[in-house]
Amino acid sequence: MNPIDLRSDTVTLPTLAMREAMYRAEVGDDVCGEDPTLNRLEAVAAERLGKEAALFVASGTMGNLVSVLTHCGRGDGIILGDQSHILLNEAAGAAALGGVYLRVVPNRADGKIELTQIERAIPEPDIHHALIRAVCLENTHNYCGGAPLDVEYMTEAGALAHSRGLLVHLDGARIFNAAVALRVPVAKLVASADSVMFCLSKGLSCPVGSLVCGSADFVARARRTRKMVGGGMRQAGVLAAAGLVALEQMIDRLEEDHQNAQALARGIAEIPGLSLDPGTVRTNIVFFGYTARRKPVQQFVQELDAAGVRLWALGPNRLRAVTHYGIESTHIEAALATMRRVLEGLA
Ligand SMILES: Cc1ncc(COP(=O)(O)O)c(C=O)c1O
Repeated sequence: MNPIDLRSDTVTLPTLAMREAMYRAEVGDDVCGEDPTLNRLEAVAAERLGKEAALFVASGTMGNLVSVLTHCGRGDGIILGDQSHILLNEAAGAAALGGVYLRVVPNRADGKIELTQIERAIPEPDIHHALIRAVCLENTHNYCGGAPLDVEYMTEAGALAHSRGLLVHLDGARIFNAAVALRVPVAKLVASADSVMFCLSKGLSCPVGSLVCGSADFVARARRTRKMVGGGMRQAGVLAAAGLVALEQMIDRLEEDHQNAQALARGIAEIPGLSLDPGTVRTNIVFFGYTARRKPVQQFVQELDAAGVRLWALGPNRLRAVTHYGIESTHIEAALATMRRVLEGLA
């Protein structure tokens, strides 16, 4: 039997419709702007997000990097949360490759950054201070339990940044999860962001790819930055074809992933040795505590894996499970039963 893989929504496999579209895709040299399928994906993505233009990149990490390097020169800075993916999980690319100063401020448990924290982190113009160019937000917020940041907050944070001459970059790896959970059009949710990265290769199930969206001028400059970091691809229409299917067919169904995450959260809350407040689960990411004394968390994860359920321990006594395409409600029930058996020492 295949394992029930709840490690991440990045484990999703392309759908049959994607594979067929990839097989049939009309392609050309995208570095020369000649790949019709890729050009269509960029146009559709831009339109969907309410931005002038979009740029296809290899990954979410590359999309964030290209955006930050396009906004900042060496020694310039960005304000970002202490739980943000850009800070914690992107190999310090902005600092290493761009000499970008990272001005870190605390994230709240709901993924937001207190506006007063942003305000305080913006320095007065003075030769002693770095030039801070942008505020980076993350929506949904991965390490803050997949929390969606609402339109009101996005608008207020954007207005604050803009009033102080800063740009807003949004790590929207899972922005469609946020839009679906909040029941708002995605364009409204990202309206205050000057650049937005979103991923095709997570809940939307594509094999590869992310998009960076923004003004035509920003995207033209980002295209050069992408080339600089080696991200100019050639017949990338084979990948874009899957992306077009994703934007058409895979967004509305994210609601199912959220419902499965809720069911998983309710079940986990009832298992002795695990702890969770189901009310904190808003999208497809379920963080929960490990309180069992019988075995260390790593042993629990290994035994669970051997019994056919995969998830990740992220931090001491903290576990994460993510629902996604391919995980049905029957898998959730089976995963919960397996967790119980492993904790009771019966599996
Ligand atoms: C919030 C967030 N941003 C960016 C990324 C990076 O995406 P990728 O793995 O495609 O580089 C991830 C990946 O999990 C993520 O969760």
